[in-house]
Amino acid sequence: MCTPSHFEVTYAINPWMDVENPVDTARARLQWEVLRQTYLSLGHRVDLIDPLPGQPDMVFAANGGLVIGRRAYGAKFRFAERAAEGGAYASWLTEHGYEVVEPSRTNEGEGDFLALGSMILAGTGFRTSLEAHIEAADALDRPVVSLELVDPRFYHLDVAIAVLDDGHGSAPADIAYYPGAFSRHSQRTLRDLFPDAILCSEADALVLGLNAVSDGRHVVLPSAATALATDLRQRGYTPVPVDLGEFVKSGGSVKCCTMELHR
Ligand code: ARG
Repeated sequence: MCTPSHFEVTYAINPWMDVENPVDTARARLQWEVLRQTYLSLGHRVDLIDPLPGQPDMVFAANGGLVIGRRAYGAKFRFAERAAEGGAYASWLTEHGYEVVEPSRTNEGEGDFLALGSMILAGTGFRTSLEAHIEAADALDRPVVSLELVDPRFYHLDVAIAVLDDGHGSAPADIAYYPGAFSRHSQRTLRDLFPDAILCSEADALVLGLNAVSDGRHVVLPSAATALATDLRQRGYTPVPVDLGEFVKSGGSVKCCTMELHR
């Protein structure tokens, strides 16, 4: 995670951002700290990267790369406003013993890449290029399933799909998603691959309910996504709601603030 010391909305690169709708920075810090404490209380380790001044979106650590095992595929941001973050995350990963494959194609890390079982689900349409999907598959030696995002409100894959179970335990891989975020053929792909997935309502997707982090049992998710939480509970998960309302002003929530170091 990246401390939100410099987090604010000073530019608009997605429909959620409005420079006229200022962030309450004190509140943002508190909300972020509650998220960090939530992970710690669930028994997870949380490493921190130092935020760079002038990079208000660096708090969205998910975008800094995709890490599987000791290898990482680095990020190459779509917009100049965030370009400096790519190198900062790559340096952190290198310093912590990861082998970083430097990207030549535009991609925003776990914003558009979700590790699931032996494969990677990859989003394209707004930020990450299709060429980056191929590059990531090669860098991490995993098959990639490309999915096309068509609704600008859901500009990253991690606001359209939540990985509930990564399929590495005894249970099969499991996801929740909002079908309306995807093109017709990608909806078909998701239906075929995950016939039992939880389908999230537009209302819950619009509070960024799918921007969640799961350890296979506990699902840390935005507290406003109440119907999704009920569905999760019915399926045997324990929803752990947190309020990251200040970050929603920038188009992010739980998952965006979290880069997972997948084994
Ligand atoms: N303001 C950031 C942007 O538009 C939000 C990034 C959210 N991150 C994510 N993983 N969806 O780039």
